[in-house]
Amino acid sequence: MAIERTLTILKPDAVAAALTGTLLSRLEKAGLKIIGLKRLRLTPAQAEGFYHVHRQRPFFASLVKFMTEGPVVVAVLEGDSAIARLRELMGATDPAKAAASTIRKDFAASIERNAIHGSDAVETARFEIGFFFSGAELSQE
Ligand code: RTP
Ligand code: MG
Repeated sequence: MAIERTLTILKPDAVAAALTGTLLSRLEKAGLKIIGLKRLRLTPAQAEGFYHVHRQRPFFASLVKFMTEGPVVVAVLEGDSAIARLRELMGATDPAKAAASTIRKDFAASIERNAIHGSDAVETARFEIGFFFSGAELSQE
């Protein structure tokens, strides 16, 4: 297995529900090391840029509105197969289709308000980590 880095966002619904500690704890207990962490409120331009691959999708405007409604917590996670591992812990996009004991099954309200984001591939992880963190912020020292 390869050591990878991935980006997670605890979405506004999860932060508003005071789930930050619970969700970070789940990720840590699953072996994902938190090597970068910050809380911020996305501007509409930032949310549009982050989710630019979805700009033609019918849900795009609603997604940007949701992602900017309140603060989020963004974190860089590192570990064996971190990208796939995070996606596994998150569960399916639609909580109704998510497996038991996944974060979305346990905490998401809908296909949109689904608590957590995770990078979906090595290239997107690289883009998404760079979107929020500089190299110096991820120093292992
Ligand atoms: P994410 O990027 O946030 O980790 O979620 P994902 O890969 O599981 O799903 P994706 O297809 O990338 O969609 C990004 C986010 O857009 C919202 N969404 N709404 N109303 C809808 O049908 C719909 N579909 C997707 C969700 O917040 C989803 O996580
Ligand atoms: Mg996605």
